[in-house]
Amino acid sequence: MGKDIFDNHRPQWKTHIGFLLAAIGSAIGLGNIWRFPYLCYKNGGGAFLVPYILALLIIGIPFMILELGIGHKMRGSAPASFARLNGRWEWLGWWQIIFVMFGVVLYYSVIIAWCLNYLLFSFGMDWGTDTNQFLFDKFLMITDSPFEIGNVRSPVLFSLCLVWFLNWLIVFRGVEHGLERANKIFMPMLFVLVLVLVGWSVTLPGAYEGISVYLKPDFERLRDVRVWIDAVAQIFFTLSIGFGIMIAYASYLPEKTQIVKDSITIAIANSCFSIIAGLGVFSVVGYMAHKLSIPVDEVVDKSIGLAFVVFPKAIGMLPGFSGLFGALFFICLVIAGLSSSVSIVEAFASGIIDKFHYPRKVVVSVLAVAGLTGSIIFTTQGGLFWIDIVDHFLTQYGLVTAGILECILVAWVCKASDLREYINRFCVLRLHSVWDYAVRFLIPFALIVILTNSIVKELATPYEGYPWLAIVLIGRDWLLLTLFFALIVASRPWKEKGQKP
Ligand code: ALA
Repeated sequence: MGKDIFDNHRPQWKTHIGFLLAAIGSAIGLGNIWRFPYLCYKNGGGAFLVPYILALLIIGIPFMILELGIGHKMRGSAPASFARLNGRWEWLGWWQIIFVMFGVVLYYSVIIAWCLNYLLFSFGMDWGTDTNQFLFDKFLMITDSPFEIGNVRSPVLFSLCLVWFLNWLIVFRGVEHGLERANKIFMPMLFVLVLVLVGWSVTLPGAYEGISVYLKPDFERLRDVRVWIDAVAQIFFTLSIGFGIMIAYASYLPEKTQIVKDSITIAIANSCFSIIAGLGVFSVVGYMAHKLSIPVDEVVDKSIGLAFVVFPKAIGMLPGFSGLFGALFFICLVIAGLSSSVSIVEAFASGIIDKFHYPRKVVVSVLAVAGLTGSIIFTTQGGLFWIDIVDHFLTQYGLVTAGILECILVAWVCKASDLREYINRFCVLRLHSVWDYAVRFLIPFALIVILTNSIVKELATPYEGYPWLAIVLIGRDWLLLTLFFALIVASRPWKEKGQKP
């Protein structure tokens, strides 16, 4: 690998707040607004906050410190940073950013595209009263199995083009003028909109019942190991750790940076956002139950159903300005989604730029076209099945495996104390040596337990009852294929700076 990658003139965040907003923007995503509230509800309400907060403190924050520390110390994207830590581990960085770029962001952009469609639908309440039928039969025109792909849904494709155009525009303009500037607009806007929506929702009749279902603790549920697994997996996904994003973002920081303080700020801001967003979601659900005179439990749905079936229905029942409420809600989802998707594209682009020194504008333009093309499979009538399977495999297996391997690299192949001492050189809030043990034993152990549990569960019952062939071809092979490409890219020589690509 060319030594010049470490002394090149990396772009830098113009302001520290710009970096913080971009990192918080990456963490806050679609997952915070509908996934967290549902998980909370499913896993014992307020009692879920116990494993969630423990996972945040024991795994989330230490891992965030690890990723920001690596990126800052090595001043490179994930592949460049891992290659510098140990030349044989470069592939891990490539694997992470490849499966996230050519996996997670492909379907993530399609969900943002749905939100754009729903934003338009909300003005005329186009979803009518049967929101379930509207989503599956009219909007997605879903087929019966992942093997029946059907046709591309043109409304989704149109919005998807807009999503990829925005991804392209923001990342194309670079760290300071693109990502930093966009997040400086996006994040304050998102915070204000969410506060308006939550403030509005909690005053609705029935809101209190909704909130009590969301937060009422059922401590019995904590005996179930799945609850703990869900908490750890959610922390991993929601903080965008294991994606290679935080490594790339930290590589654009100036030398004197408070890694520990920043990691805590990003993690706490993200979790507070989730908890507050949940108050709004469940207030609206409570209102709907109140209007229908049925228990809240009967109207709550999981994952996609919560945002695209239950919520539109509830919005349609609001006493006034319901179109405005719906538009604001879907604008929030679009902003939260975009600030995460651009971070994924940036993490990949920075890997390619570090290694091959291609111009950013060319890299980002090619990536946007490739991303749009790759996303098309998820806009088909069978696309929802593909989203479900790819999401399950990449997050449950890809991210968790990448997390375990990162810990092994930092704490077993290298020395965790070296990174800690580096981080402490600049930190007022100093990192205790307990962190070494967390990275060496606790975090990999917890992640291995999750991984083993998921595999055992998977082998006993295929995910969501999908045919084995679909699971193997779409899920497992997606991961293996990205691993194959990672090994190939890692085997290519590093281009010296100044040499024409
Ligand atoms: N962290 C992002 C989310 O929660 C990916 O959606």
